[in-house]
Amino acid sequence: YKRVTVKSLIEMKNNGEKISMLTSYDYSMAKIVDAANVDVILVGDSASNVMAGHETTLPITLDQMIYHASSVIRAVKRALVVVDIPFGSYQSDPKEALRSAIRIMKESRAHAVKVEGGEEIKESVKRILNAGIPVMGHLGLTPQAIYKFGTYTVRAREEEEADKLIADAQLLERLGCFAIVLEKIPAELTKRVSESLSIPTIGIGGGKHADGQVLVIHDLLGMTHEFNPRFLRRYMNLYEDMGKAISQYVDDVKSRDFPNDEEQY
Ligand code: KIV
Ligand code: NA
Repeated sequence: YKRVTVKSLIEMKNNGEKISMLTSYDYSMAKIVDAANVDVILVGDSASNVMAGHETTLPITLDQMIYHASSVIRAVKRALVVVDIPFGSYQSDPKEALRSAIRIMKESRAHAVKVEGGEEIKESVKRILNAGIPVMGHLGLTPQAIYKFGTYTVRAREEEEADKLIADAQLLERLGCFAIVLEKIPAELTKRVSESLSIPTIGIGGGKHADGQVLVIHDLLGMTHEFNPRFLRRYMNLYEDMGKAISQYVDDVKSRDFPNDEEQY
C-alpha cells in the first residue's frame, strides 16, 4: 500500500484527480472503507449523530472522538485519517486547541485534525500547525455553529457571506491548511473557491467543482433513512436490507430453523 499523505492530496489536485473521502467511526467499517481505496477517512463528529443518536454534533467529547479515532486507525493501511476536533475543545483559546489536537494525535495515532471556521479560529489553527499537526479546514454550513444559523439550509447564498467564505478559505490556505471541506454552499461559489486555491477543496453539498467529495458512511449505505438532502446519493438501502435480514433471523430462531443440525457441535 502506498499511504495517502497530505502531499498526495495536493498532487491529486494538481493532476486533476478527484479526492474521495468518507467517514468511519469504528474498526470494522474502517477496514472495509480503507480496502475500497477511499483516499481520506474522516472520523467526523457526525459520530455524535450516527453513533450516539444526538440531534447535533455538539455533545460529543474529546475522549469519545479519540476512542472512535483509535478504533479507525487500527484498521487503516492506506488512507489518510483526519479527526474532527469536537465543539468546545478548540474555540476558547489557542493553547486549549493545541492541547486537544496533541491528545488526538498521541492517543489515537491519527494523521491530521479538522476544525470548523476561518478568521474566528485563526490563532488556534496557527498554533496547531506550528506543532507540526496538519489541519483541514471546514467552511460553509459548519454544524458546530448550527444554533447560530438556526437551520440546516444552504449557506453563503448572499454576497456578504460568500465574500467572507472566500476570504476565510484564502486565510486557511495562507496559514498552511492542507485542504478545506466546503459544506452546503452554491456550486458556483465552490468553483470560485476551488479555482482560487492551490490546496484542494472537499465538497459535501458543494457541487461538482470541488476537488473532492465527502459523505457520511451511514448516509451512503442508506442506514439513515429519514435524512434526505438533495446532495445525498445513496448507494445501498441498508436500513431495509438489514431490517429484512434481522427479521429473518428472528423468524428462524422462533421457528427452530436456526440453528440446524450442521450448525451445532
Ligand atoms: O462530521 C462529519 O461527518 C463532517 C463531514 C460531513 C464533512 O464533518
Ligand atoms: Na464534522
